[in-house]
Amino acid sequence: MITAPTASRIEVIRWMEDFVGEKLSEFLKSVEDSWQPADLLPDSTLDNFFDELKDLRERARDLSYDLLAVLVGDTITEEALPTYESWLMTIDGLPQDPNGPWMKWNRSWTAEENRHGDALNRYLFLSGRINMREMEASTQYLLADGFDLQTDNDPYRSFVYTSFQETATNISHRRVAQIAKKQGDNMLAKLCGHVAADEARHAKAYKAFVSKIFEADPNEMMLAFEDMMRKKIVMPAHYMRELGVDLGKTFGHFTDAAQRIGVYTSADYTDILDGLIKEWKIEGLTGLNEAGERARDYVMALPNRLKRVADRMRVPSLEYKFRWIADR
Ligand SMILES: [Fe+2]
Ligand SMILES: [Fe+2]
Repeated sequence: MITAPTASRIEVIRWMEDFVGEKLSEFLKSVEDSWQPADLLPDSTLDNFFDELKDLRERARDLSYDLLAVLVGDTITEEALPTYESWLMTIDGLPQDPNGPWMKWNRSWTAEENRHGDALNRYLFLSGRINMREMEASTQYLLADGFDLQTDNDPYRSFVYTSFQETATNISHRRVAQIAKKQGDNMLAKLCGHVAADEARHAKAYKAFVSKIFEADPNEMMLAFEDMMRKKIVMPAHYMRELGVDLGKTFGHFTDAAQRIGVYTSADYTDILDGLIKEWKIEGLTGLNEAGERARDYVMALPNRLKRVADRMRVPSLEYKFRWIADR
């Protein structure tokens, strides 16, 4: 179902401008208040750099294969940020005024996100365990291949997507931090913890955008939510591949590794959906027509259905040999 931008959608997006401006200062940080990758990694201007580097590499030596694979996949996902920014800019109805809150939001969100790929990439480079050329080729592939989120440039669908996705990245970076800590790498744990905290703020903001749309246009917002959940939320890196590997094939192995070590599982998908249903107070929603009521029933019943499917799914056991991870 492709929805042309309706007059009402454009009106709602314009009506939200002040609200977005408020959320911008509430949920995004100024440059002055932001951490930078350099705060979390060895400083190459200092004499103790080589000692710190040696320590970093020693800690990285003990990281498990699956954890490294997930870290590289997460890094490539973050590094494909130009795709996400250009996608945000194509959402129908966003006022293009560069000084308006919507464009400011897009730029400032991108500016925060850009630190994630930088920090992770630099850590992996220093770790001595990654074939950087292979990882970089995967990043170039992913940027060139793009993605298909099936949001149809619709603001309502797009903000369901970002609400879901930012929550998912919060969970996965947080879990990587926990596992890194268990495996003895506190520097990596801290770094991923900082990234996860950013993602949590972004998730809150996007969820607030959708709540606001529910206030103004509950029926259409409900239909958009249902439509996205029927299509399933795909991860932004679903086309991920390595050199010599078919489109999307590496992504499957990456998500297998993430499932195996419990960084992101099908249970998480259901939990996120559960959380969105509560956040947006779907159960008590009023102002729905018949189609809206049906959409609500579908979404309300979905978590239990997904739980039943997840119970039947086996965690993939086969380890894949990623080209990204250096042989020693
Ligand atoms: Fe990020
Ligand atoms: Fe994010």
